[in-house]
Amino acid sequence: MADVLLANIGELVTCRSPRGYRRGETELNELELIRDAAVAVEGGIVIEVGPTDDLMARLARNAQVIDARNRLVTPGLVDCHSHLLYSGSRHEEYSTLVSNTRTPGKNLGGGIRYTVERSRAASSEELLDQATRDLDTMLEHGTTTLEVKTGYGLSGPQEKRFLELQAALQHEVSLARTFLGAHVLPDEYAEDRESYVQLVISLLTTAKEFAEFCDVCCDPIGFTYDECLRMGRAALDLGLKLKVHADQTGWAGGTELAVELGATSVDHLDYASDAAIAALAGSQCVGVLLPAVTFHMLEMTPVPTNGRWVGPQKPFMPELARRLVREGVIVALSCDYNPGTAPTLNMQTTMQLASRLYRLSYAEIWHMCTINAAKALALEDTVGSIEVGKRADLVVWQVAEHGQVVNRFGTNLVDTVLKDGRVVVTGGDRAAAGRSLAPG
Ligand code: NIG
Ligand code: FE
Repeated sequence: MADVLLANIGELVTCRSPRGYRRGETELNELELIRDAAVAVEGGIVIEVGPTDDLMARLARNAQVIDARNRLVTPGLVDCHSHLLYSGSRHEEYSTLVSNTRTPGKNLGGGIRYTVERSRAASSEELLDQATRDLDTMLEHGTTTLEVKTGYGLSGPQEKRFLELQAALQHEVSLARTFLGAHVLPDEYAEDRESYVQLVISLLTTAKEFAEFCDVCCDPIGFTYDECLRMGRAALDLGLKLKVHADQTGWAGGTELAVELGATSVDHLDYASDAAIAALAGSQCVGVLLPAVTFHMLEMTPVPTNGRWVGPQKPFMPELARRLVREGVIVALSCDYNPGTAPTLNMQTTMQLASRLYRLSYAEIWHMCTINAAKALALEDTVGSIEVGKRADLVVWQVAEHGQVVNRFGTNLVDTVLKDGRVVVTGGDRAAAGRSLAPG
């Protein structure tokens, strides 16, 4: 018997997928839409999806009925990559990027070390307070599942403190926890890389107590392929699942490594080789694209060189995104929320940028922020789509159609959020919900 019934849904986008993910242009563009639908929930789990009339007649009597007022309802958004726990802003450093007095990408390692310094100095209470406020904001913007990483501690005691803080974070937003001791080489080890690699390996036993994933940064600003291979293998041996920050500022073999080790996801991919993309397409490893980084780091923008505007300096991102889709990579999208490369925690912004900067279609974007993102966290059996047996994480939007969430930008379009069938955000309801004229 249903205890909650979300009824009068104008457009229900289920993001269902027979295999628990979608890959390739055809599959990604087949978005399941049900008109005039209802979702029945019992004990926080979806028990039925069907026509409003039918479900109201059979299940309304003992249920809390929530009227979706003919609006769009989708799965809660899954944000599969964040650096949530940190202290300090990097807006001053950012102004030097905007004014062209800093080379894009060049000093990213330095920026991360600044955040490490500030985060080490911050009290645990301050870190938890800020993270909790950020989680509240994420939930208000429709995110119901989030991945969080360490990586701003970078010493034995500090990484352990951040692992404990991640575990202490309890919020309506479901969290997947990751150990990123191998983010960048901390200053104290500048002359002795190997000792730091050994330290990361020795911390993995503690990481296993607090986290499900280990992430390694295989990138010119992080660690080499060989270093990441050793740390990644040690993590897998202990039963941690693997993620890789790969090839963000240059080719380092990170994408190859992720496929070889059977990582759950490989994130960034900007300089991934052709061979690595082909291998990724034949694997179950999810490729995660981060359009807020492309936007914020001005990677689509020409840069002045000797008085001439040239660029962009990164591989042409729409082409990369389309290639990943066409070749059959399981692509997901995420904010990569952090103070340096992506100071946004709004998945709506990520969706809107994916459309404008990567030229992905509405259907592709919805799948990439729900079911495919769930797979990037190995959670595709429980979240990421609206179907019987899954957690009732649902968003009622202020608009009537899924394309409007991508097309409009600049304001929060969430109306109501249900987490495990419970209303946790209400009171959006500002924008007009009008349905667009059907094309043709
Ligand atoms: O964009 N390799 C790491 N890059 C991080 C940056 C984090 C930061 O700038 O603080 C990323 O995911
Ligand atoms: Fe990141």
